[in-house]
Amino acid sequence: MQKMNKTIVSPSILSADFADFGGAVSEIDTSGASWIHMDVMDGSFVPNLTFGAPLVKALRSRTKAIFDVHLMVVQPGRFIQEFVKAGADIITFHYEAEVHSQKYLSEIHDLGKKAGIAIAPATPCSVLEEILPFIDIALIMTVNPGFGGQNLIPECLEKVEKLVKMREKAGLNFRISVDGGINEETARNAKKAGADVLVIGSAFFKNNDKKGLIDRLQD
Ligand code: DX5
Ligand code: ZN
Repeated sequence: MQKMNKTIVSPSILSADFADFGGAVSEIDTSGASWIHMDVMDGSFVPNLTFGAPLVKALRSRTKAIFDVHLMVVQPGRFIQEFVKAGADIITFHYEAEVHSQKYLSEIHDLGKKAGIAIAPATPCSVLEEILPFIDIALIMTVNPGFGGQNLIPECLEKVEKLVKMREKAGLNFRISVDGGINEETARNAKKAGADVLVIGSAFFKNNDKKGLIDRLQD
């Protein structure tokens, strides 16, 4: 994956009106964002339930945006093929949820898609060292996964800084994504720390000037 200088914004439909996901996708398209973040929760890895591959499939024909699927499920390897078939472009799963991460990162690549690994606030980024060569994205959770609308935990941005150094040292160019509590103010700090991808849920859907917001965040 190319190293990108421009920040990518990935609005999360977790904060959309669940009765109108199609409308949410058009709002995201109109805003100028090119990725759409989809939070899949199983009620076990995280204390919340959302949706699965059928929603990804239903939305696939509505947009050309990159589908950035974030699996917050135990044993995510079980669902990779299903999400790829449904139209996911990027599949990110949690380090904490899968012992054999390398195997499933490779499987995602073999299916022609981009692969990401996510870590929760309590997980140090040092555990990722050996799998960095196998990822396109490292997703740093900046809240405890499970719900939108939480406040960003500032200490998590230190992990972004550490990962930037680890990436440099290893001569790699995966993207670093931050997820949770991102708004215009926290985005500035996240970008300063080195984040290349900003996942944004409630602050996006609450904003009436979505295009302006995306323009400023991508700047
Ligand atoms: C939280 C999810 C996030 C969520 C972010 O578990 O992974 O993607 O949508 O929502 P905000 O931006 O409201 O924190
Ligand atoms: Zn997410």
